[in-house]
Amino acid sequence: ASGLEDELKRAIRTIPDYPKPGILFRDITTLLGDARAFRRAVDALVQPWAGGKIDKVAGMEARGFILGGAVAHQLSAGFVPIRKKGKLPYKTVSMAYELEYGTDEMEIHVDAVKPGERVILVDDLIATGGTAEGAVKLLQQVGAVIEAACFIVDLPELGGADKLRAMNVAVRTLVAFEGH
Ligand code: PRP
Ligand code: MG
Repeated sequence: ASGLEDELKRAIRTIPDYPKPGILFRDITTLLGDARAFRRAVDALVQPWAGGKIDKVAGMEARGFILGGAVAHQLSAGFVPIRKKGKLPYKTVSMAYELEYGTDEMEIHVDAVKPGERVILVDDLIATGGTAEGAVKLLQQVGAVIEAACFIVDLPELGGADKLRAMNVAVRTLVAFEGH
């Protein structure tokens, strides 16, 4: 692993048996609270787009808001919230997405992106990819050109990153944990 990956891994806390027995929960609150690790993670996420061709950063409620806001600010891009159902006040497009048990719904404002705008999607972690897949579909429906989906943590065994690549979305992750 690179120096960056090692440093970020050390900054992420692992909680065994949360939220249920057998799950290793990768807790990024410790990374967010570590000024150097947070700065390095955001810098690494924005690095491929530092030239300025990104119009907007989209983040998924809730943890994607924290990182997406920081990334958008650093790129001098706009920010687009993708929210859980019922929170956005204007006209929305909705998308069901798969959770471990059952489905939920997320929404985007219909005018959040102008057709053809270049957007990156940001979240803290990709596991099964259900959340990211739903967000990609919403962004496509409102006309975004998705340049990439970016995450601090990948759990590759759960297949989410591969699922996005199969949808022709470039995926960028900073840290991989084998065994989830
Ligand atoms: C977590 C995480 C990702 C998603 C990844 O969010 O922040 O958004 O799960 O899982 P997936 O790849 O299997 O879809 P969660 O739904 O727990 O909500 P939160 O961000 O509001 O805490
Ligand atoms: Mg989330």
